[in-house]
Amino acid sequence: MVLQRFGVSIPGELLKEFDEVIQRKGYLGRSEAIRDAMRDFISGSRWEAGQGTYVAVLNIVYDNRPSLVSKLIKIQHSSRADIISTVHVHLTERLCLEVITLRGTREEIEYTANKISSISGVEHARLSAVPVEVREGNHTHEIGNHV
Ligand code: NI
Repeated sequence: MVLQRFGVSIPGELLKEFDEVIQRKGYLGRSEAIRDAMRDFISGSRWEAGQGTYVAVLNIVYDNRPSLVSKLIKIQHSSRADIISTVHVHLTERLCLEVITLRGTREEIEYTANKISSISGVEHARLSAVPVEVREGNHTHEIGNHV
């Protein structure tokens, strides 16, 4: 991998805050933190533009009712985003946690995730997505192959 150097002008206060976050997170220096921030920035803007394929994790906590569970299963069976896996954890007598891994475009993933999140009785829902193709130097890893 060929590393390139560049100079950046930023307000001192912003740099101070950045350094504090770097230290708190345990980065050894600014370079790796800036690389991570740039990757997040790029994948965030691709997600906003709806470009590319993603693997996403949807965490939900819900009330263990038969009507809810049957809706949840029905939505997953008819999802346009691929459902790669679902992990179910019986949290308490009443509550269940489900971790659903999906693969598809932003539109496909959000369609299914929104349908699931809006089922009455789903008390908590959080979606996080990562791009399927991550460039490292001059070759490409297909994360999808490792899922
Ligand atoms: Ni359960």
